[in-house]
Amino acid sequence: MNFSFATGDATKAKADVLILPLFDTDLTSKKGQPSAWAKSDQKLRGLLAKLAQQEGFKGKAEQTCVVQTHGKLGVGRIMLLGLGARVKFTPEVLRLAIGRGIKAANRLRAKTAVVQLPGVRELDSSLQALVEGSVLGGYRYDKWRTTNADEKRAPRVEKVQLLLPDGVAKDKSMDATVGIAKAVGEAACLARDLVNEPAGTMTPTILAEQASAIAQGGGLEARISGRTEIEGLKMGMFLGVARGSVEEPRLIHLTYTPAAAEHASRPPVVFVGKAITFDSGGLSLKPSEGMLEMKTDMAGSAAVLGAMKVVARLKPPFPVHALMGACENMPSGHAYRLGDVLVSRLGKTVEITNTDAEGRLVLGDVLAYANELRPAAIIDLATLTGACIVALGPWVAGAFGEDDQLMWSVLEAARASGEEIWRLPLTDTLKDVLKSDVADMKNAGDRNGGSITAAHFLKEFVGDTPWVHLDIAGPSNVSKEKGYMARGGTGFGVRTLVEYVRRRTAELEAVVEAPAEG
Ligand code: BES
Ligand code: MN
Ligand code: ZN
Repeated sequence: MNFSFATGDATKAKADVLILPLFDTDLTSKKGQPSAWAKSDQKLRGLLAKLAQQEGFKGKAEQTCVVQTHGKLGVGRIMLLGLGARVKFTPEVLRLAIGRGIKAANRLRAKTAVVQLPGVRELDSSLQALVEGSVLGGYRYDKWRTTNADEKRAPRVEKVQLLLPDGVAKDKSMDATVGIAKAVGEAACLARDLVNEPAGTMTPTILAEQASAIAQGGGLEARISGRTEIEGLKMGMFLGVARGSVEEPRLIHLTYTPAAAEHASRPPVVFVGKAITFDSGGLSLKPSEGMLEMKTDMAGSAAVLGAMKVVARLKPPFPVHALMGACENMPSGHAYRLGDVLVSRLGKTVEITNTDAEGRLVLGDVLAYANELRPAAIIDLATLTGACIVALGPWVAGAFGEDDQLMWSVLEAARASGEEIWRLPLTDTLKDVLKSDVADMKNAGDRNGGSITAAHFLKEFVGDTPWVHLDIAGPSNVSKEKGYMARGGTGFGVRTLVEYVRRRTAELEAVVEAPAEG
């Protein structure tokens, strides 16, 4: 999708569709109304307002209304998108609305669109949301479709002309905003592709190849380790999970190093992603229905890879590492058993009480490895527990960690990027659940507080390093389409990680630029 800025009169712009987001008050009062609305209505001799009224379009969130212009305007159609109440506006409202708009425009076979940026206070983040929402809304996963090829070949919105609010002049920073927003949207689409790909063609080996390709494209260092090297690293928990599958495990390590030596020597930020390419449950086999979506159990690593692609472009003034332990969790004669004791990289021993609690085992070893990089912060993303979906519903991720400063940075980044993440407690009352009779701990507790016990398990492997664990089991993949999201992988986490990096960059640069006191 290509973006440019439109200048002048919206009614003269040439495009298949003019997309006009409107607040509910825009239908009843002229104050704050975009001039594109009045001008279009005028050229259509009042038919726009009349039709909107007849169709019951009141600018409510989730409302859409399409009007044919019959050659009276440069655009073939006008699409009104409800934004709801102005007081409730956030850039995410716009991101969702435009995603819906682009989906509808694609159904209309539109190839070009003029999109009005509403006049709001949060102009920069709204422009970002508009571009991200457009890219994400245009996403489709049809790689494997051969029938209905017409649909696959059908035209889609490829060119978007952005129309600035009345009275706002274009400046240079807007090009940069659009550029980054487009990169972020595309990175989230890449994450979606990785998640949506069937497990048979997204094996640990293929995931590692994809990671290498991303690294190569962005000038990052990629280090891929196979079974022998993982054995050398004594990652007994990772190897235990991987044992049941004929697919070789892969330890994926991407590194971004800043060019300047004084930046390269700063403590790194490490992103860790769960990368179970298929989670059958192992010998604690999942029921068939639950297993169907388990090709998405590498969504954490998909988000991390998407974010790294943008990091390579942003070039922050501190190193960023991405680590993922990729393997399959399968039952077989080689599989790890219930009652087995695994020895982790840290030396801690773990009694296996459920082979379906595999994510924490792999992550435990990878987090211990991450910690050896002496990082300033570790953020892990994992489709870790069904319990997190029970707790927060399918659209919200859970956050765990005891470093309040890092936690707030991550939550603020999430809020700014429109991804909903809520903190859950690492309560001491659930610490004993993982006590084992035979080893240092066991890998699974009971159902109660399941995402909290999982987080407690991970915590054993990160030492004192500031760390946040994001359980993205719900929002990484959705069964209902909504706004800019299609069914399947969402790319959840990419936006938060990128925003975190941008904020950390701004903080570090502010410290450098601050005038000396005295
Ligand atoms: N990958 C699953 C978690 C999951 C479930 C993600 C549903 C997305 C949707 C994870 O490996 C798992 O199986 N967790 C178990 C833990 C239990 C055995 C302690 C779970 O949530 O049931
Ligand atoms: Mn599992
Ligand atoms: Zn899993």
